[in-house]
Amino acid sequence: MIPETAPKEDVYLASAEFCKTSHVPSFDKYKELYVKSVENPDEFWGDIAKDFFWKTKHNGEFLSYNFDVTKGEIFIKFMEGATTNICYNLLDRNVHEKNLGNKVAFYWEGNEPGDELTVTYRELLQKVCQFANVLKSQGVKKGDRVSIYMPMVVELVVAMLACVRIGAVHSIVFAGFSAESLCERIMDSECSLLITADGFYRGDKLINLKLLADDALQKCKDKGFSVKRCIMLKHLSKDAEEGSQSPPAKRSCPDLQDNQTGRVKKRRPVPKVPWNPDVDQCWHTLVKGVSDQCEPEWCESEDPLFILYTSGSTGKPKGVLHTVSGYMLYTAATFRLVFDYQPEDVFWCTADIGWITGHSYITYGPLANGATSVLFEGLPTYPDVGRMWEIVDKYRVTKFYTAPTAIRLLMKYGNEPVQKYKRDSLKVLGTVGEPINPEAWQWYHSVVGDKRCPIVDTFWQTETGGHVLTPLPAATPTKPGSATFPFFGVVPAILNESGEELEGPSDGYLVFKQPWPGIMRTVYGNQQRFETTYFKKFPGYYVTGDGCRRDKDGYYWITGRIDDMLNVSGHLLSTAEVESALVEHENVAEAAVVGCPHPVKGESLYCFVTLTEGVSYGRGLETELRNIVREKIGAIATPDYIQNAPGLPKTRSGKIMRRVLRKIACGERELGDISTLADSSVVDHLFQNRCCTA
Ligand code: PRX
Repeated sequence: MIPETAPKEDVYLASAEFCKTSHVPSFDKYKELYVKSVENPDEFWGDIAKDFFWKTKHNGEFLSYNFDVTKGEIFIKFMEGATTNICYNLLDRNVHEKNLGNKVAFYWEGNEPGDELTVTYRELLQKVCQFANVLKSQGVKKGDRVSIYMPMVVELVVAMLACVRIGAVHSIVFAGFSAESLCERIMDSECSLLITADGFYRGDKLINLKLLADDALQKCKDKGFSVKRCIMLKHLSKDAEEGSQSPPAKRSCPDLQDNQTGRVKKRRPVPKVPWNPDVDQCWHTLVKGVSDQCEPEWCESEDPLFILYTSGSTGKPKGVLHTVSGYMLYTAATFRLVFDYQPEDVFWCTADIGWITGHSYITYGPLANGATSVLFEGLPTYPDVGRMWEIVDKYRVTKFYTAPTAIRLLMKYGNEPVQKYKRDSLKVLGTVGEPINPEAWQWYHSVVGDKRCPIVDTFWQTETGGHVLTPLPAATPTKPGSATFPFFGVVPAILNESGEELEGPSDGYLVFKQPWPGIMRTVYGNQQRFETTYFKKFPGYYVTGDGCRRDKDGYYWITGRIDDMLNVSGHLLSTAEVESALVEHENVAEAAVVGCPHPVKGESLYCFVTLTEGVSYGRGLETELRNIVREKIGAIATPDYIQNAPGLPKTRSGKIMRRVLRKIACGERELGDISTLADSSVVDHLFQNRCCTA
């Protein structure tokens, strides 16, 4: 399945110098290890497991599973019988066994240039133990779910690892999600405690997080579910007393000028924090005087580690559940091999920890390897479009991992903001989240990486836990836009509509034939949905939901989602979820949402709305509709285009023909077969009133 020899033409190769010290220095070595990983997973993963601490050893096969719904319940078990604690492996092992106590775990860089912190492995261990003791004192026990709704601050990592230390299950909700979304996620996983912060700035914009958190808790209460405690970190209002509204005193402080850069550091208003003494507790007060020693809770390999919600095609998000040992080894191994981790590296993954990329490649993978990372709170364009490269220069970043949407955004501003900063420290560049178009790949390679750095285009999903199709930087000749070949232990196949495996160059459904350690184990509280979503269409395979092409050299090219999910700026959104938000407006009778190509975001949201009788369409209504989506889901789901659609193209049985709507959204007149349309005049009307797209 992997070609005998790698192609030599029209591909990009790492320099001989880079390959010399690489963990997997050649294509032949990759192939040899790949065969071992698939044919002898016990030995392959056993070697990786040796580096970690196990309280008790596993007692059987490394991997047991059933992927075939016709043969019974789907399950995946890895290293059964072993007990360990990931927090112990990420922190104690590095501090006490590897002598990395003084090594920097994170360089935290705030939203404002000049806001910075350095945290060593020893300090992180102390903070985590202390907060783990706080969680225990709040009654959190092994198996309890804890919801975390925080900005990109060190305490977010502390909170997640404190949960892990005591065997509690974290459920992180991206701080860009709305109160409604937070409420839905808290209730679905029945979280007993919420950890949040007063607020944060995204560029110039204040996000009053505590207000949103309170709103979410109230919504939970209204629906009959009470969260017992809410712990709030004072991120912006460090000096304010809890129990009162934060004093606005700081607002009048003068802006500060940084002597080195001459840049003005803005003094920002702090948010007003509502306080409910029955529920709210202040992080800073709780940790005061608490011991920084905390014995880890030893967990079984298949104990739950965390839940992370991802969009589902029914509109209700799915709580993807990952478990302890498999996820730990998989994120550790992918981090080490895909980024070719070396001890002197400074790694920077620009994702938010609220998404799987941040879970796996800011927290778990890097810390499992004792790596130093940058943790960035801000935006790539704030205060100017050179910010990313300024940070690369400042911390001498060696491995840089971002999304194609960020590359496309920055590319628009030309080369000067990049070239202004030193990037000679960079060794490997990575991308994730969506297909990267060859132009963006070329710009990333030639301008950002000065043609020196291999690019790893990593394909994976919340569900896969870590990279599944990816180049290895020294071993894999790359082709711009292709995620190349499978990672170790991963066996891809391409199926046609009838579920037949296609050989050689082909195009179809991307599936995987057997599990790897990092694959999700279930949808939290809904095994049925897990089986239906991923295993029912093609029994015996895990179905990714992505289309894929394999070329003559065996390279895999992701062609995008083939379900009703949209990928906007690297984030998956369900069209059904946006539609149900739109129809909540009293004037909307029906809504249909499709994607249309966008030069920066990849895809944008194009919404067709049919209004109720007698209502007329106007700017005011359009704004209300945008707001309702923001309120129900979050700003990431804000519609780009809304079109008034007095009629929608439907079949005679009343099914909306989304294929036709997609064409209308894109302005493509070639509609294909529309003979099943009940009323074809609807289409002309929609074309005539199309929104003008980018
Ligand atoms: O469609 C694929 C796309 O992102 C989806 C997974 O989204 P999510 O679970 O939010 O996780 C994103 C970060 C891992 C996939 O089904 N996707 C992800 N990476 C790539 C990609 N599409 C093409 N190329 C990639 N490298």
